[in-house]
Amino acid sequence: MLKTKQKDKYIHTEKENYMQVGIESIGFYTSRYFIDLKTLAKERGEDYNKYYTGIGQEKMAVPPPDEDIVTMAANAAHEALQNAEVNAIDMVMFATESGIDQSKAAGIYVHSLLELPQTCRVVELKQACYSATAALQMAYGHIHLHPESKVLVLASDIARYGLGAAGEPTQGAGAIALLVSASPKLLALDAHAGFYTDDVMDFWRPNYRDEALVDGKYSVRIYLKALAGAWEHYQGKSGLKFEDFQHFCYHLPFTRMAEKAHKQLAKITGHRDMDENVLAEHIRDSLIYNRITGNLYAASLYLGLLSLLENSEKDLSGQRLGLFSYGSGCVGEFFSGVVQNGYRSYLMKDEHLKVLNSRIELSYPEYAKFYSYTIPTDGGTYLLPKNETGLFRFAALENHKRIYERVQ
Ligand code: HMG
Repeated sequence: MLKTKQKDKYIHTEKENYMQVGIESIGFYTSRYFIDLKTLAKERGEDYNKYYTGIGQEKMAVPPPDEDIVTMAANAAHEALQNAEVNAIDMVMFATESGIDQSKAAGIYVHSLLELPQTCRVVELKQACYSATAALQMAYGHIHLHPESKVLVLASDIARYGLGAAGEPTQGAGAIALLVSASPKLLALDAHAGFYTDDVMDFWRPNYRDEALVDGKYSVRIYLKALAGAWEHYQGKSGLKFEDFQHFCYHLPFTRMAEKAHKQLAKITGHRDMDENVLAEHIRDSLIYNRITGNLYAASLYLGLLSLLENSEKDLSGQRLGLFSYGSGCVGEFFSGVVQNGYRSYLMKDEHLKVLNSRIELSYPEYAKFYSYTIPTDGGTYLLPKNETGLFRFAALENHKRIYERVQ
């Protein structure tokens, strides 16, 4: 039984959703470089099936030194805003656990690179991989109060555990940008959501470290516990049942995690005996992109959502999706939304496939070199080595300031 401070007074119903608010567009960006986990397995003396099958990952995005959370988020946002009414954006929320500054919000650089209106709030949010969901829900509330506004939610992260660490094959890098508005062309969010918070040390990164510390197997157990707690809260508020959802998207530290999570949800909702193929079908298309990028931390769940929307052969219009967001430490949230009619014409699948299929494969020494690069901290002037990037790159450092440039 969950500990609750106050009994929920209201059961939210469809009717209460007097205005539809949700995701109008999604932009995605990942590094132009990757390492195949067969290469990593060979170097680590592991059977590559442990990675390909055991954790369900094939490729891992590796950022070059002139790429960071700002450049990745700016590239994702540039894509999300291609056909948007940019002047209506009055809030930018940047979700990350790979912050580049203890004071200044990374979103301000993105706001500047994309020349967004100055009549805009910009803020950075942190709670491990969960914070983009907090941002999305805050955007949902903000737009209910101000239906004419649009909110840009950015999730951008570089997952780092360390060369040779147990978590190494679950690294990755990338960004998702969500334009949230009262014109949700892709997914209209439901009003109800279920939460779960617990003070645990499954994964954390003290300020003095570049790499996360993790109790891997414990983190998997806590993820599943948070899912059960968030679902119980969600179910009590919404009255919706497992069978009311056609598909599910989970936070994806690695794709096997979603399989474990989905089996667990089926079990706790009395569907232990459900056909394995049906369970696999619920999540299969959501795993395709993450399998070849790795963990994008805050952006992972939303890359899973994009993967489902872009890779499902069936038309998902009108289908209700269940989404589970998890951030170590820990906070979990189960929420839901309905795919909108005509959503396919607002997706950019061809562009995404082109980018994913034209990435440059790194050898192990090249990966280790990118990984081990550290930016100078003496306040001098330095030009960053130029590598393949998207439209924006981290070009230089000067007097402890990061300087970004537009490439084309
Ligand atoms: P590990 O010790 O390297 O691997 O840790 P393992 O021995 O547990 O093996 C993994 C799976 O591969 C097992 O399957 C093995 O049987 C299988 P399972 O028992 O799980 O079904 N296996 C093989 N399969 C086929 N052929 C083979 C073979 N060998 C083994 N030859 C672990 C794995 C995921 C724990 C590690 O990579 C890790 O610590 N990763 C980082 C932590 C993590 O991702 N946790 C996930 C939950 S927490 C979370 O999602 C939050 C997070 O995103 C952070 C945030 O919120 O900011 C991480």
